[in-house]
Amino acid sequence: PTLTEIKLVEVGLRDGLQNEDKILSTSVKKKAAEMLIRAGLKELEVTSFVHPRWVPQLSDARELAESLPQEEEVCYRALIPNRKGLERALDTPVQEFAVFLSASETHNRKNINKSIEETFPVLEEVTDLAASRGKRVRGYVSTVFGCPYEGEVPLENTAAICERLFEMGVYEISLGDTIGVATPREVKEKLKALTGWFSADRLAGHFHDTRGTALVNAYVCLEQGVTTLDCAFGGLGGCPYAPGASGNAATEDLVYMLEGMGVRTGVNLEALCEVSRMIQTELDKPLPSKVLQSEIAV
Ligand code: HMG
Ligand code: MG
Repeated sequence: PTLTEIKLVEVGLRDGLQNEDKILSTSVKKKAAEMLIRAGLKELEVTSFVHPRWVPQLSDARELAESLPQEEEVCYRALIPNRKGLERALDTPVQEFAVFLSASETHNRKNINKSIEETFPVLEEVTDLAASRGKRVRGYVSTVFGCPYEGEVPLENTAAICERLFEMGVYEISLGDTIGVATPREVKEKLKALTGWFSADRLAGHFHDTRGTALVNAYVCLEQGVTTLDCAFGGLGGCPYAPGASGNAATEDLVYMLEGMGVRTGVNLEALCEVSRMIQTELDKPLPSKVLQSEIAV
């Protein structure tokens, strides 16, 4: 793959804010989205239309979505658990949706209150309705590299789920290291197998940085031809239903690494750090991105 094919999916406003104790106002989220766009990010997962009791941090999903400015070349995305979620999201500026489930039974149940098998028809309702409205749907598979409840997760689980999701018509699947346990050799081996079964350009990497391996795992993705990477500004992130999960690969750190390798990301690092600094102030705590912290120290 040529390096220009790399796509960054900024998930900080969703994956990041869903995991913070402090609930930010809709206007702060909107401002952050606008600043992320100004910094050059084009794919923004801005919220999720899950049950407001399960994730109160994002209970303003519709209000936020409706307040977003229409911007050329920018795609707003949202996480959708079921038909009710999609109905709430339709007719807002959100253009693209993402369904999600886990490769391990226990995490799936804790996260969305269903067995894996029971989840498929729920997701199919979403993909069918989205297709009838001409909308693209992405899929996420969580706990691909390990489950906080079950430990190791067989790759066959992930492969079988990917097959079902592609059959439903999702255009891309993001492989989640939900609790940040993956290491490079395992990522390489699993991606080698998965890209043998599915086209690499329909897969994405979603690495949490709990143990400091997110960036190197993202790099391994590129080596394996998986050129869509999820990331979160400031290194925000986590899953409220995966104990011990912490931030995603930080967008700043990924951009720094890629630009240093000669890959044009279109992202202005200083403008990006400004967003993270604004949210640091709002959350009243430092965010983990290394590049962000090194900039502050200067
Ligand atoms: P449930 O309680 O089983 O839902 O929750 P239900 O279908 O039985 O319905 C119960 C009530 O909830 C009904 O209301 C529904 O209408 C309502 P009632 O009739 O009792 O008045 N309801 C809803 N309301 C608003 N929006 C909705 C919705 N759905 C039902 N969408 C459910 C099932 C999936 C909704 C719940 O478990 C849930 O919201 N879970 C979300 C958990 C979550 O957001 N986790 C974090 C995101 S996943 C993640 O972070 C991983 C990822 O980053 C990748 C990685 O890192 O691995 C993507
Ligand atoms: Mg995540």
